[in-house]
Amino acid sequence: MKGKIRLPVLDERMLLIASLVREGGVPADIGTDHGYVPIYLVMSGICPMAVASDVNSGPLGAARANAARFGVDDRITFCLSDGLSDMEPARLGVTDVLICGMGGELIARIIDSSDYVRTPGVRLVLQPMSSLYELRAYLAEAGFCIEQEKMCRSGGKIYTAMVCEYDGVRRERTEAELELGRDVSEEESDENLNLFLSRTAEKLKKQIEGRRKGGIDTSREEEILEEVRAIGRARGFSDVG
Ligand SMILES: C[S@@+](CC[C@H](N)C(=O)[O-])C[C@H]1O[C@@H](n2cnc3c(N)ncnc32)[C@H](O)[C@@H]1O
Repeated sequence: MKGKIRLPVLDERMLLIASLVREGGVPADIGTDHGYVPIYLVMSGICPMAVASDVNSGPLGAARANAARFGVDDRITFCLSDGLSDMEPARLGVTDVLICGMGGELIARIIDSSDYVRTPGVRLVLQPMSSLYELRAYLAEAGFCIEQEKMCRSGGKIYTAMVCEYDGVRRERTEAELELGRDVSEEESDENLNLFLSRTAEKLKKQIEGRRKGGIDTSREEEILEEVRAIGRARGFSDVG
C-alpha cells in the first residue's frame, strides 16, 4: 500500500511566504537554508518546479538532502550563488524571487545587485527579520512598488512579508509609512494588528524616553507614535500606546 505523501511542516512565517507565491510560477528561494519553502511549493502542487539557492554550501547541501528525502529533488534546481549573481534566473524561467529570513539591509543589497529582479512580471516576495524601515526606504528609492504586505504571528513574534514588483517609479514615503508599512491596517486581522501596534508603541515610547534623556530630538518618533495610535483608534482598539 502506498503511504500518504507528507508535506514538510512549515511554521506560520514560512506558510505566509509560500502563500504569496503565484500558483503555476517558478519560485527561486534565495538563501534557502533548509529548502522547506521550495519543497513545500513543489510537493503541494502550487508550483511545477523551483530553484533553491544559497551562498553557503552547507545549507544548500541540507536543502538538497531534504528535497531528496521528500522525493522532489528532480523538480528543484540547486544553485550555489551569492544572491542571484551566480545563477541563471532567465534560463530557469524564474517568476517569483523569494528573499526571506534575512536582515532588511542584506535583502536590499541582494536586490540591488541583480538586474533580473527588474524584469517586467517578475515578483519579489520579501520577508525581512529586521531593518524593515531601511528595506522599504530602499524599495521606494529604487523604483519597486510594494503591492502587498501581510503579517503573521509565529512563536510569539510578529513577522511581515511583502510582495513587490519593479516599475521604475521612485516614491516619496512618510517616516510613518516607512516604519509601519503603507496601508498597514487594511488587510490585517485584529489580533495581529493589535499586537503589532502595541509592540511598536512600546518600542517608540522607550526610544522617546531614551532620546529625551540624551537631549536628542524626538519629533520623528512622536510623529510615528501618533500614527500608531491613530491606526489603533480607527480600528477600535482601546489599548494601543
Ligand atoms: C536565516 S536563513 C533563512 C532561511 C530561509 N530563507 C527562511 O526564511 O527560513 C538565511 C540563509 O541565507 C543565506 N545567505 C546569506 N547571505 C546570502 C547571499 N548573499 N546569497 C544567498 N544566500 C545567502 C545563509 O547561508 C542562510 O542559509
